[in-house]
Amino acid sequence: MIKLTGIHKTFGKHEVLKGIDLEVAKGEVVAILGPSGSGKTTLLRCINYLEKPGEGEIRIGDFAFDAKRPGKKEIHELRQRSAMVFQQYNLFAHKTALENVIEGLVVVRRISKEEALKRGVELLEKVGLGFKLDAYPSQLSGGQQQRVGIARALAMEPEVLLLDEPTSALDPELVGEVLAVIRKIAREGITMIIVTHEIGFAQDVASHVVFMDGGVVVEEGKPSELFTHPKEERTKQFLKRITPELSYSI
Ligand SMILES: Nc1ncnc2c1ncn2[C@@H]1O[C@H](COP(=O)(O)OP(=O)(O)OP(=O)(O)O)[C@@H](O)[C@H]1O
Ligand SMILES: [Mg+2]
Repeated sequence: MIKLTGIHKTFGKHEVLKGIDLEVAKGEVVAILGPSGSGKTTLLRCINYLEKPGEGEIRIGDFAFDAKRPGKKEIHELRQRSAMVFQQYNLFAHKTALENVIEGLVVVRRISKEEALKRGVELLEKVGLGFKLDAYPSQLSGGQQQRVGIARALAMEPEVLLLDEPTSALDPELVGEVLAVIRKIAREGITMIIVTHEIGFAQDVASHVVFMDGGVVVEEGKPSELFTHPKEERTKQFLKRITPELSYSI
């Protein structure tokens, strides 16, 4: 349903993505892990065209985007089919929770304000924020802001939801509420690519795990295999660093 083929991205002389191939079936949840600087955020941003991929093809559903021929129409189409949840929430500070959620519906999708408000309220209720419709981001906790971010992304009814370390900016006591919301929407069958280092969560929700390092996919597989029997040395070292309580045979 989503197929990335040979995605390359270079910043100046620094080749950050060195030909990424990835396939995600409809309704599947893929977790991406990897050390800082390995290119995880850049990859998600390429799928949403927040970064311009240098080379490669991005296929979402029946639409194929060739990085060599990026027309305005193609970029718009790509953005319609994916939506991003950011590490730092990226909400509009001067808009309420509800206004943040409906912004894209009104401005990009051009649906009526009345219909947008109805959908916005439903989505905020879904993420447990029906009581915070008129709150501004500064009046919300980090976990609540991130749940607004998730509702905003869902509002666009994307074919794939991209989440970039959605809980890493949160205080530990707020992580659970956001993971619970993500778990709930994952179970509803939305296709998802999530960068996360929450191993327990990935084991529980992801059907496939991808380990990236240095701009390449080093290893991928089922969570039950990759987390318990990593094959590659780099994967073992990384997992050992982030889950020192687990021991991997090296
Ligand atoms: N706009 C940019 N201009 C120049 N270099 C960039 C830019 N964005 C990212 N990079 C570089 O690309 C590399 C990959 O960055 P990226 O943010 O994709 O890594 P990451 O795997 O998401 O890391 P982290 O776990 O720290 O979020 C890094 O070396 C980074 O410095
Ligand atoms: Mg990142």
